[in-house]
Amino acid sequence: MSILNYQNLTLTYNEQEILHHIDLMIPKNQITVIVGQSGSGKSTLLKATMGLLSDDAKIIEGKILFEEDNLLEKDLDCYRGKKIGMIFQNPLTYFDDYQNIEEHFYESLHTHFKYSKKQSREIAIHYLKQMGLEKTILNKYPFELSGGMAQRVMIALVLCLQPSLVLADEPTSSLDVVIQKQILDYLLNLKKQTTFVFVTHNIQVARYIADQIVVIKDGMIVEKGNVETLFNAPKHPYTKSLL
Ligand SMILES: Nc1ncnc2c1ncn2[C@@H]1O[C@H](COP(=O)(O)OP(=O)(O)OP(=O)(O)O)[C@@H](O)[C@H]1O
Ligand SMILES: [Mg+2]
Repeated sequence: MSILNYQNLTLTYNEQEILHHIDLMIPKNQITVIVGQSGSGKSTLLKATMGLLSDDAKIIEGKILFEEDNLLEKDLDCYRGKKIGMIFQNPLTYFDDYQNIEEHFYESLHTHFKYSKKQSREIAIHYLKQMGLEKTILNKYPFELSGGMAQRVMIALVLCLQPSLVLADEPTSSLDVVIQKQILDYLLNLKKQTTFVFVTHNIQVARYIADQIVVIKDGMIVEKGNVETLFNAPKHPYTKSLL
């Protein structure tokens, strides 16, 4: 069963076609990994799903179905956070510089679940711990975080809402291998309740976590399949070159 379904999605930036006729089913409770070279349209696909494209982007045709709903016709505010969480490629652009990390958690948890400050703090500490972060980070402001810390705080902020679908854009790219593995193992454990679409440049990471791998090149899906098939018998020359 699929939770998300892209049907013939075609998108332009300033009249230039960036995504071409994307057809892709995202199976529920699995991890779908998207790989592809820089500029191939991976982040654009995730942002389109969340309704976060800039004004110069235009959807020419197609649908993005989340369960039964075409997200392109919906008010995405009703989906963001609780139903669909997004871990951004550049987490610092997502944070509010005037709020410390504790306030970020409170705002999010209070908005979605009406949790008190005390409850939010406890939940924040729990999720930060899973990311290998101490609670002292709650008092810090976003600009005080390293790239890897910001990534981990962002993952905790997204996961604490327990979304049914998580779009993760290079979520572990700034992390050392030990922390990276810890977090990937945590995500693997969440598969029972959450579906992931995970963008990465790292083929080892893809191999470790993916159920399904999708290879995208110049805005087109050139190959997709389960991990064993794709790694053992890649068909497209671009996939071969990646491996
Ligand atoms: N806001 C924008 N306005 C115009 N063009 C854009 C905009 N954002 C992205 N693009 C273009 O769309 C294409 C796809 O970009 P996108 O960010 O989706 O690539 P990506 O696969 O995520 O790359 P990377 O691996 O480097 O993150 C690129 O050619 C990029 O220049
Ligand atoms: Mg990107």
